[in-house]
Amino acid sequence: MDFLPPDISAYSEAHTSPESELLRQLNRNTQARMLYPRMLSGHIQGRLLAMYSKMLRPRRILEIGTFTGYSALCLAEGLADDGTLITLEKDDELEAFARSYWNQSPVGHRIDLRLGKAADLIPTLDGPFDLVFIDADKENYSLYYDLVFDKVRTGGIILADNVLWSGKVARPVGQGRTAAERRADKDTQAVIDFNRKVSEDPRVEQLLLPVRDGLMMIYKH
Ligand SMILES: C[S@@+](CC[C@H](N)C(=O)[O-])C[C@H]1O[C@@H](n2cnc3c(N)ncnc32)[C@H](O)[C@@H]1O
Repeated sequence: MDFLPPDISAYSEAHTSPESELLRQLNRNTQARMLYPRMLSGHIQGRLLAMYSKMLRPRRILEIGTFTGYSALCLAEGLADDGTLITLEKDDELEAFARSYWNQSPVGHRIDLRLGKAADLIPTLDGPFDLVFIDADKENYSLYYDLVFDKVRTGGIILADNVLWSGKVARPVGQGRTAAERRADKDTQAVIDFNRKVSEDPRVEQLLLPVRDGLMMIYKH
């Protein structure tokens, strides 16, 4: 999922602030114990999320897609003193694992995990949010964008992960892909539709950062 040559990636990691010992252990144990460990944001993207959060000093963050709780910890680093982060996860089997790390962090008590399907949970949440991180099922990215939009404050930021989807979004029909293959690939089509929707939305400015698997940064006017 990294588009950079390995030596450039290694150089970037070496010149980025290291993960805390807690994040390093969480990352390592996720790699060792989880079925799809590459879902975890990882060192560079984790530092990017923490940096954005520290620049924004949000009071309220919403994360859609908790997994093992790595990105939640990174985002929580920048919360204002009275700030909270709500994170949504449909898989209740991840809770104990994520909490065992949050409990060791000075910002862990600010993380509010809500279990269930994001599409059911988001309408139950009150805004405004200063920062939203969309990182769950790709098929519903556009739905999540619509559901959260009015709950994001003016000047707030929405981040969406995996918007390059291993580069598949930029590989049109005819370049090694048939129209049937593309139709069958629902996730790729959903990410393409999401990227187009954001790009055509006059209410926002956006920046598609080609970091890791692509991070869309959306500023709400
Ligand atoms: C890519 S992982 C999140 C990674 C995490 N944000 C990180 O960077 O460490 C996506 C997570 O979304 C969860 N998920 C998928 N569909 C969901 C849904 N409909 N509602 C809530 N969570 C969902 C998955 O169970 C998975 O844990």
